[in-house]
Amino acid sequence: MTSSTAETKLPQKPKPHIAKQGHPSGDKRFKALEMTMKRNQYRPDALIEVLHKAQETFGYLEEDVLLFIARGLKLPLSRVYGVATFYHLFSLKPSGVHTCVVCLGTACYVKGAAAVLESMTKQTQISVGETTADGQISLMSARCIGACGLAPAVVFDGSVAGKQTPESVIERVQAWLPEEAS
Ligand code: FES
Repeated sequence: MTSSTAETKLPQKPKPHIAKQGHPSGDKRFKALEMTMKRNQYRPDALIEVLHKAQETFGYLEEDVLLFIARGLKLPLSRVYGVATFYHLFSLKPSGVHTCVVCLGTACYVKGAAAVLESMTKQTQISVGETTADGQISLMSARCIGACGLAPAVVFDGSVAGKQTPESVIERVQAWLPEEAS
């Protein structure tokens, strides 16, 4: 005997949100952002909280990040961009040619991130959130960039570098500086 009820299809669950598929770059920081959106059930009114998380995680809000948030919360990019530019606590693209984001999350902090940051500030003579006078380097901090196993981690021009030391970051920065300045 055949039962037609056995073949009755259950109503389809809504398709997973596009943001749940992560970011094509594979950058783990987008996962942290995704978790925040998920925790807020992808509600558009969580925009400010999500932007905060993004700023904390990436150090600044580049267009790719704003786009990811817009998709996740189903908001027009113009709205996300508008809110991000309205509040001065959010910074869009750093002005330096090169960017250095030092992770100050717990795992990195425990493994010496403070000394790494101090070394960077001494070498560049700028504080977090600033750009060198010659416009070469912007220095930022973040709270957990999703690479705790590599602590202390620093993101140089978008690439995560693990197990950094006060000496290794100086080497990296010197390579960015014009010959006569390094
Ligand atoms: S605390 Fe620095 S990567 Fe997680």
